[in-house]
Amino acid sequence: MEEVIIGVIDDAVVPAWNVEVEATMPAKNRAFFVEQAGQYFPSDHVRAARDELESFAEIIASRGIKVRRPALLDYRQPFSTPNWSSKGGLYGAMPRDVLLVVGDLIIESPMAWRSRYFEADAYREHLVDYFKSGSRWISAPKPQLKDDGYRADYDPETPWETKRYVTAEAEPLFDAADFIRCGRDIFAQRSHVTNELGIDWVSRHVGNEHKVHVVDVTDSSPMHIDATFMPLAPGKLLVNRKRVGTIPPQFSSWDIRFAPEPTIPDDHLLYMSSAWLTMNVFMLNPNTVVVEAEEWPLVRLFEEWGFDVVRVPFRNVMRFGGCFHCVTADTRREGSLQAYF
Ligand code: ALA
Repeated sequence: MEEVIIGVIDDAVVPAWNVEVEATMPAKNRAFFVEQAGQYFPSDHVRAARDELESFAEIIASRGIKVRRPALLDYRQPFSTPNWSSKGGLYGAMPRDVLLVVGDLIIESPMAWRSRYFEADAYREHLVDYFKSGSRWISAPKPQLKDDGYRADYDPETPWETKRYVTAEAEPLFDAADFIRCGRDIFAQRSHVTNELGIDWVSRHVGNEHKVHVVDVTDSSPMHIDATFMPLAPGKLLVNRKRVGTIPPQFSSWDIRFAPEPTIPDDHLLYMSSAWLTMNVFMLNPNTVVVEAEEWPLVRLFEEWGFDVVRVPFRNVMRFGGCFHCVTADTRREGSLQAYF
């Protein structure tokens, strides 16, 4: 790892409870979202998360890795397009969701949540900078996100079986975090925020050097592949056995291990995700993994597997829907493009 963007959380705002948010967020938090839409998240939770996130950024920088941070924006500002309006935005905490980095290509995602329509703006300064230094910076076609692009009759239990996801196929939609790179191969999931057209769009734009494969995911509220299917290093794959149907055949000779059940207590409020964020780890190099400090079963699994483990407290950041992999977008790594299969 040479360079990484790490999110900021100070300005996080509660998104409106639209149909696309309902499909992916814990149902028990509905009242909170409905009442607080457009307002800051509770300040004590934000402060605690910020402290953890800043410590993580310091740890990464102390290892000689260049760290970039997004701009702080006012996400309470309402905005609209000719088709709809939003009470505000969300945050600049999760660059992994927004920016898909494939070699020297940086793609801004056409996100399915209306509240995230302008989220790439937080990274603008860096995107211009990467462009000036030679990267190919593009944005996928800006989606219209009209009402008929969402399906109110989506399947909340088995969308993978019925193919009734909340996003229809009106236009390409994807979040970058529904894709995970593995050298020349990229593994993707159809989710409530990434549709077939979105996967096709990425396949055609990453060029002949890369191939996109769709993973058979059995997640009732799929949104982002990185708490489900995590290629960690050449030959090592971490899988959420509750969410992956058939493991792609490419991995038949790899050492595949299943993530242990999270130990995060049930009463630890996670506004935006399941507790499986524990497997949302971050690789500093092929031997070193950053893991949430209290997740001892996962720490032990990695140690037995031969990894060096860096334990970092992150449960307060996890309240906001992401762990180490989500809050980062690695933009430069050493080495050349490899074919692992
Ligand atoms: N959406 C994923 C989960 O909740 C990250 O586990």
